Amino acid sequence: MVIKGFSTKAVHAGELIDKRFGNVITPIFLSSTYLSPNESQEKYIDPTRNKPYLYTRLGNPTFTSFEQKYAALENASYALSFSSGMAAITTSIMSAVKQGERILALNQLYGQTYEFFKEVSTNLGIQVDFVSVDSLNALEIPAKEYKVFYVESITNPTMQVCDIKTVAEYCIEKGIDLFVDATFASPYLQRPLDFGASVVLHSATKYIGGHSDLIMGLFATNSKSIYEKVVEYRSTLGCIPEPFSVYLALRGIKTLALRMERQQSNAMKLAKFLSQNEKVSKVNYPGLENNEYHDLAKKVLNGFGAMLSFELKGGYEAAKKFIRALKLCIVAPSLGGVETLVTLPLETSHRQLSIEERMRMNINEGLIRVSVGIEDYEDIEKDFSQALEAVS
Ligand SMILES: Cc1ncc(COP(=O)(O)O)c(C=O)c1O
Repeated sequence: MVIKGFSTKAVHAGELIDKRFGNVITPIFLSSTYLSPNESQEKYIDPTRNKPYLYTRLGNPTFTSFEQKYAALENASYALSFSSGMAAITTSIMSAVKQGERILALNQLYGQTYEFFKEVSTNLGIQVDFVSVDSLNALEIPAKEYKVFYVESITNPTMQVCDIKTVAEYCIEKGIDLFVDATFASPYLQRPLDFGASVVLHSATKYIGGHSDLIMGLFATNSKSIYEKVVEYRSTLGCIPEPFSVYLALRGIKTLALRMERQQSNAMKLAKFLSQNEKVSKVNYPGLENNEYHDLAKKVLNGFGAMLSFELKGGYEAAKKFIRALKLCIVAPSLGGVETLVTLPLETSHRQLSIEERMRMNINEGLIRVSVGIEDYEDIEKDFSQALEAVS
């Protein structure tokens, strides 16, 4: 039976059910090594090598189960899991771009990804140019020969929306590989391969895991040649996840749609509440009708997501007072878990940036980022309300 529904796939696709045991969920395979040769008539095949499983750095049945489930959600032919989102990003970029080739990347990226492009890739002889989301959306692109465009669906931390549809069409026409980090959207809200992107990447640490209890990354593509290269690099660099983390992600991803629906509903209410507060000078959330990315978000996302950021009129000092006054919502980096997490990007995700870089990315000192959780909305609002009162 062909399964079409997102949640049905999230629950059933890829599960490793072995009728000899009658298990209903995928087991955790901790085995680092496998019989070789394996002469069983019923042996399972590691799809990364089209041969029986041999060694977990190359492939593991728990990974395969998760990778097949994720590929089904992403409408992808191939997927691979990694030890972290950064491992998925760096491995897939290094496998796709050679010395002397050029990448065009957004200038507002997750801080560590930006660092990778700024420093590491330069050491590898890879040229990286940066462009703003607005320039890229308007296809104002430097006249250079690019191998890869690298974007995030919704940028961190000011929630600008990238026009994946327009950019993918441009990339297809010019023969450029478009890589999309869709972590903030999650596969529930956006499937970049459907728009024609070559590669989609996720920090599965976030919405896919969903419970702030694992670190993992994901890669998916429809291109056999890109996949085979990444398989090779993953085996060589050894950046595979832990089987137990994969089990947690397998469990977490089953409720992605439910969590995201609740989280984005809470985020919309919180964004409206904040925009009406006199101490708040700005709210960045594409779900707000007056947000400049609102119409674009409707075009490229199946919802507005659960990440928002805002600024207080009192700047950095007020932001620090606000987060210190929170009693329920948790002050910590990361995002996408069931709990509401609040952070100052200046002190966490974007701490390595120079003032000039921050200014270019519109990350003001007092910017507060919120990953809205699944709690009862009234409790989140109450906490924000009392913390705003603590700000003079
Ligand atoms: C958009 C985005 N991409 C990638 C990463 C890196 O993921 P990980 O921490 O799993 O390595 C993060 C982490 O916060 C992120 O926010």
